[in-house]
Amino acid sequence: MSIAEKFVSMEYGPAPEDPKEARAWLERHKQRFAHFINGTWQAPAAGEYFDTIDPSTGEKLASVAQGGATDIDAAVRAARAASLQWRALSPHTRARYLYAVARLAQKHSRLLAVLETMDNGKPIRESRDIDIPLVARHFYYHAGWAQLLPQQFPEYEPCGVVGQIIPWNFPLLMLAWKIAPALATGNTVVLKPAEFTPLTALAFAELCQEAGLPPGVVNIVTGDGSTGEALVKHPDVDKIAFTGSTEVGRAIRGATAASHKRLSLELGGKSPFIIFDDADLDSAVEGLVDGIWFNQGQVCCAGSRLLMQESIAETLTGKIRDRMSTLRIGPPLDKAIDIGAIVARVQLDRIQRLVAQGVAEGATCWQPKVALPSRGFYYPPTLLSNVHPTSIVAQQEIFGPVLAAMTFRTPREAVELANNTVYGLASCVWSESINVALHVAAQLKAGVVWVNCANLFDAACGFGGYRESGYGREGGREGLLEYVEPRWFKHAPKLPASSAPIAPEPEEPAEATAPVIDRTVKLYIGGKQARPDSGYSLAVRAADGRLLGEAPLGNRKDIRNAVEAARKMEAWAKATAHNRAQVLYYCAENLAQRREEIVHRLAAVVGEKQAAAESDCSIERIFSYAAWADKFDGAVHNPPFRNIAIAMNEPIGTVGVICPAEVPLLGFFSLVMPLLAVGNTVIAVPSEKYPLITGDLYQLFDTSDLPGGAVNIVTGYASQLLKTLAEHDDVDAIWCYGDDATVAAAKAMSTGNLKQVWTNEGRVIDWFDAKQGEGQWFLEHATQVKNIWVPYGE
Ligand code: NAI
Repeated sequence: MSIAEKFVSMEYGPAPEDPKEARAWLERHKQRFAHFINGTWQAPAAGEYFDTIDPSTGEKLASVAQGGATDIDAAVRAARAASLQWRALSPHTRARYLYAVARLAQKHSRLLAVLETMDNGKPIRESRDIDIPLVARHFYYHAGWAQLLPQQFPEYEPCGVVGQIIPWNFPLLMLAWKIAPALATGNTVVLKPAEFTPLTALAFAELCQEAGLPPGVVNIVTGDGSTGEALVKHPDVDKIAFTGSTEVGRAIRGATAASHKRLSLELGGKSPFIIFDDADLDSAVEGLVDGIWFNQGQVCCAGSRLLMQESIAETLTGKIRDRMSTLRIGPPLDKAIDIGAIVARVQLDRIQRLVAQGVAEGATCWQPKVALPSRGFYYPPTLLSNVHPTSIVAQQEIFGPVLAAMTFRTPREAVELANNTVYGLASCVWSESINVALHVAAQLKAGVVWVNCANLFDAACGFGGYRESGYGREGGREGLLEYVEPRWFKHAPKLPASSAPIAPEPEEPAEATAPVIDRTVKLYIGGKQARPDSGYSLAVRAADGRLLGEAPLGNRKDIRNAVEAARKMEAWAKATAHNRAQVLYYCAENLAQRREEIVHRLAAVVGEKQAAAESDCSIERIFSYAAWADKFDGAVHNPPFRNIAIAMNEPIGTVGVICPAEVPLLGFFSLVMPLLAVGNTVIAVPSEKYPLITGDLYQLFDTSDLPGGAVNIVTGYASQLLKTLAEHDDVDAIWCYGDDATVAAAKAMSTGNLKQVWTNEGRVIDWFDAKQGEGQWFLEHATQVKNIWVPYGE
């Protein structure tokens, strides 16, 4: 076709990016890569290699070392050996290293972009204009944090050696998201890239050498899931950071439960893309192109569920089909390509299987008539309409260029449909009414909400999920917190193993012994005193063995009732911060008034001195959280686009709390009050040693205007009640204070819905010391950050 003819037809000609430099790089390594350990290339101990291929052609690119436990061990040792020196460097020196890495990522950006596209199949336009610039941005941003660390986090230490496991959809970007904050905070790293896309991580190893990074600070061990598993299980790793499927995330939660490894998980999603009838439909359709066809839809936060307001569904569907017909699918190195290759045969099979299943379940499948390249793994852009909200294609992550469309009538229905998923990673809201958009954004259970935009990322804006999309954030100040720990906590002594029997015989029903006891308390559920389902009670004794009273022996049914009551009390989360503060102040006031009688009763168990101290400290602690309630605000970020990103500190939801046994009053308030201050509802299991405290607590709450259901108290054996709480799908998080075995159980039993678990890691917290027992550290764990992106300008 001549230029003149092309001008008339307006057809794109091929515009291939030259892979020469990337091929020369592969040649230089003789198409064979060892692990990068302790600053040098080390052959795999077992001598095994696997192929990495170009998914757009099926052609082999290189052989890559298959890491085993021995290789992981060598890398962890190198990281441990480098750790002391790295953290001892001045923050400014670490900042300079990160800055150097950022510069080198920019200097080699073309090589990195081409390699990424060859190994992953994503369009060069995306790797060149999005992935690699964001990699550099991430290192620049975190070079800044390295510099500011001592000023901003004076009381914190790095975790130590961090194991990081990343997926194949944004190979170098996910590496940057992991390595930059880890290094900035003084950790050393062992990173395992995904088996389909190891090449840019290996190129990054060379950047580390070029930047003169001390050996052992960054180690890259390649391999498959078994290599990842070895890293997760290594005893000398202090933290695991994982991005990938929810299934593997769940397995990692289980595998790390008995250790004290910190864990952050960035998992799957089934993100809603909501379009209201007043939206700018053409812009919304362009947003969809970014939302679901970006990176062939292999994006954890892809807007894969389209929710259209019914009145515009037909018009919108027409526009979407028209736009789909213009998407260009083909060799990803072509600069004019919109949709490249799917990463691997197995992923292509998965997409085909799920779409076929969706159609079998009644969905209508529409694909533009496009010719797919004759070799390589390609899947056309696909629209599934008439999708039932329970269909597999509406519920499961497909991880392909497939959009599942549904309709709604009212904003309320849109929110219901949007939240009808186990995930909660991201969401998009399109409406020209900022009122509607922000009202809906506030109700979405997702870590990111893009208003009238899609798939925007920046290092300054934390990214991460709600619910089964995982926990922890990457980016922003909150992302740094994943890689540091309060210094005192890291060095806190071990709590002795609990001597409480696992399941002692219950006492006779309370009524039978009523005449001889001082006090019988009840459970506190939904703002009312409740008898236990079991009809049994626990005898509570003073330090001298005297019978003090009876506390109900709560069971599974009581916990379920308490969870139901807590979930119904959504109004607490919606109350204004001022209102919550008022209620908390009122609690403190009432506690002060009842101080004498509470101290008198508590003294029988913990002694006069502790009882008085607990009581005085509790009043102060409640005051503290009343003060924080209207001050623990979010932030407004200003990313390098015409956008603001509003970072909101939102409550996690319904939280199960296992309170410390030895400090019955202060321990309860220290854990429950920060949760309440920011709008969570709570089911608390009070001190097993002195559960009678419940009677004082509910009298206090009843007279302090705390709405019924915001706090529920179930007494009984902590180990049994913990199990029910941890396994309950309507509980969003567990806070558990206990010995090693108890906190391990809390983590292991919480894998079902991947609830966030925060524990004392079997260490002693001095509740009387305000530095340990209260403050922002608690509030940060009581909240999750939602970033709402709002564009401005014409
Ligand atoms: P995956 O979760 O198996 O792989 C992610 C990373 O975890 C890889 O580096 C892998 O080698 C490693 N890994 C696998 N098993 C492991 C284990 N037991 N312990 C430690 N590390 C382990 O994801 P996969 O199989 O590549 O993709 C399957 C599906 O997962 C996709 O179709 C997609 O739906 C989802 N996925 C989601 C991602 C996200 O960013 N949310 C990323 C990749 C996949």
